[in-house]
Amino acid sequence: MIGRLNHVAIAVPDLAAAAAKYRDTLGARVSQPVDLPEHGVTTVFVELPNTKLELLHPLGENSPIANFLARNPTGGIHHLCFEVEDILAARDRLLAAGARVVGSPEPKIGAHGKPVLFLHPKDFDGTLIELEQV
Ligand code: CO
Repeated sequence: MIGRLNHVAIAVPDLAAAAAKYRDTLGARVSQPVDLPEHGVTTVFVELPNTKLELLHPLGENSPIANFLARNPTGGIHHLCFEVEDILAARDRLLAAGARVVGSPEPKIGAHGKPVLFLHPKDFDGTLIELEQV
């Protein structure tokens, strides 16, 4: 059911510093920051030949990233995103198997303008999983 690894998301305490590290030290192609108020994050995308990284920083009140950074002050891997062809079919299959969706079971529009859902880390070995319909 899951397809390609779309991105690995890393929560970072300093977005400009993290973007500069990937751009200048590691020599990657790095986007401008993009605010996603509905998700409570500002993101910078790092383009790699086979996948992307999503650098995440809290935006606004009650950002889910703020709690994560409080527990992991130096930053860390926040989630993995896998592509699926049909997000509603994927969700229904997962719910039937007993997996839990984080928040509303209705997909939201994610960072790439496509529907996304998050699966509870307790159901996936301590790893938050994002599904994105492509
Ligand atoms: Co993501």
